Amino acid sequence: MSNSRLLIALASIAALGACSQSARSAGSAATTVTTTAHAIVNDSTGKQLATATFTQDSTGSVHVEVHAQGLTPGEHGVHFHAVGTCTAPTFASAGGHFNPDSTKHHGLNNPAGPHAGDLPNMLVDSTGKADYTAVTSTVSLTPGAKSLLDTDGSALVIHATADDNMSDPAGNAGGRIGCGVIQSGPASA
Ligand code: CU
Ligand code: ZN
Repeated sequence: MSNSRLLIALASIAALGACSQSARSAGSAATTVTTTAHAIVNDSTGKQLATATFTQDSTGSVHVEVHAQGLTPGEHGVHFHAVGTCTAPTFASAGGHFNPDSTKHHGLNNPAGPHAGDLPNMLVDSTGKADYTAVTSTVSLTPGAKSLLDTDGSALVIHATADDNMSDPAGNAGGRIGCGVIQSGPASA
């Protein structure tokens, strides 16, 4: 994150803080519980490719926001993988796609799917950057069967090429070029 972006992010956080402050002083004591998590996605050499934040809203949906750079232009598959371990260079340690309902097959367009961890492709621009958002209700950050923060954790993986949203088990998305362990709480500034 560039310094200017960091400042904008900090300013937004300050603004949010101001809002909840006034809500509290109006008499409602901390009724809004926001559940957040984050991941730093590194490539196989340990270089940072992306930062990701995850926010579960009051309906249970998880909002995914990824800011990436240094990627090849075009579409890249993005998934939640089942294990929160990112061992370079292959990141095979992250296991398959997060799929607590093990009867499901891969692919957002697959009638027999999708895996809970399947996400839309990330579109990288001609400068190698991407600002990606997605919303999913198939995972959670709070405890339960579909929690990403389960005992073995989970990882966000970025792939070399596009996910075809159909082919089982992994959408023909090529190698795993980036991996980030999903960690509870916001990213530290
Ligand atoms: Cu994947
Ligand atoms: Zn999948």
